[in-house]
Amino acid sequence: MGPTHAEALARIGIVVRGILGSSAEKSERARAALGLEKAYSSYDDVLADPAVDAVHLCVPNVLHFDYAKRALAAGKHVMCEKPLAMNTLETQELVTLARASKLAAGVCYNLRYYPLNLQARALCSEKLGRIFHVNGCYVQDWLLHDTDYNWRLNASESGALRAVADIGTHWMDMLTGITGLEVEAVFADLKTFYETRRKPVGNTTTFGRTDDHGQTYEDVPIDTEDYGAVMLRFKGGATGSLHVSQMVAGRKNALRYEIAAANGALAWDGEQPNELWLGHRDKPNELLLKDPSLMANSAATYASYPGGHSEGYPDTFKQCFRAFYDYIAAGCTGDAHFPSFEDGHKQVMLCEVILESSQTEKWIRLETNS
Ligand SMILES: NC(=O)c1ccc[n+]([C@@H]2O[C@H](COP(=O)([O-])OP(=O)(O)OC[C@H]3O[C@@H](n4cnc5c(N)ncnc54)[C@H](O)[C@@H]3O)[C@@H](O)[C@H]2O)c1
Repeated sequence: MGPTHAEALARIGIVVRGILGSSAEKSERARAALGLEKAYSSYDDVLADPAVDAVHLCVPNVLHFDYAKRALAAGKHVMCEKPLAMNTLETQELVTLARASKLAAGVCYNLRYYPLNLQARALCSEKLGRIFHVNGCYVQDWLLHDTDYNWRLNASESGALRAVADIGTHWMDMLTGITGLEVEAVFADLKTFYETRRKPVGNTTTFGRTDDHGQTYEDVPIDTEDYGAVMLRFKGGATGSLHVSQMVAGRKNALRYEIAAANGALAWDGEQPNELWLGHRDKPNELLLKDPSLMANSAATYASYPGGHSEGYPDTFKQCFRAFYDYIAAGCTGDAHFPSFEDGHKQVMLCEVILESSQTEKWIRLETNS
């Protein structure tokens, strides 16, 4: 994610001063590859640099809490990758610290910023009427083989939940944002298909290749879920469901939803993100191709190219960071249009009740007063 953030920032004219990797050599390699000024030698060096106004945390989840806390204490704005931290004790503390700091504190739920997701949001609030149900999935295949390995598989590095926290929270953040619905209770069934994986000895990378030339492996017990089915009850009577998996062969990054409402339905597929299906009961259905001239102002603002010119995953980071740096430029006053630490906290709360539901085989209500 580090290079992804750096590229997106360059596209909106934000100067990326430098980068910190997990070793001096990796910092320097990344600095040279990205054409940046500085390779930092430690996180303390980053925070001590007066030229740094904001930090982007693109490290494994276990580091988010400590790094975000130290950044706020050093007076730096923070854009933290999702999930915000490992548990709600941590996320609640970060929310409190962020509020007290008056700094910008965001969580990178970038998928909100596909222009047609913002159009779906406008349609939900202006045209669709009462929402009945919201259903969808987020499924991938990069952890299909028992030899696929990544730090996310370990609860000690990624948090107690994996598939739900890693990709399910993107879906839940998107759909609660689009519909304006708030989750009231969940019922979940989580499953780990490989209780033990064969970890390749040596370095592994996220979405890495799986060539097997003389590779040796070690057996590693797995304590996070490969799959989750989650039923959702929303305040006000709407209902929904989500399934997540990192083990569906051929589904590279299938992020999908369907919203059924009194005045129509909407469906979107993240692998065809420039098409929004509008379902009608009493007239022919429509397919809206992304075109700012046909979209609500609130959505068109986050589309940088005209109709027919596709916008995709890297653009969502650009738009998310635009919202974040516009807020900073405005002196951190007024409405914040980026995903906040509060939003990140809500998602970790949802992860915790989803885990509790799966363990107890019961519906669990969400306590939203924190
Ligand atoms: N928003 C999105 O769409 C999205 C997509 C993928 C990942 N993520 C999030 O981004 C974060 C990173 O995930 P990733 O897939 O890029 O992981 P990754 O393993 O590919 O990259 C993590 C990097 O952090 C470095 N690192 C580890 N410890 C460090 C330290 N102490 N100091 C500096 N660098 C250190 C590693 O060397 C590695 O280069 C996670 O929180 C993940 O959930 C978000």
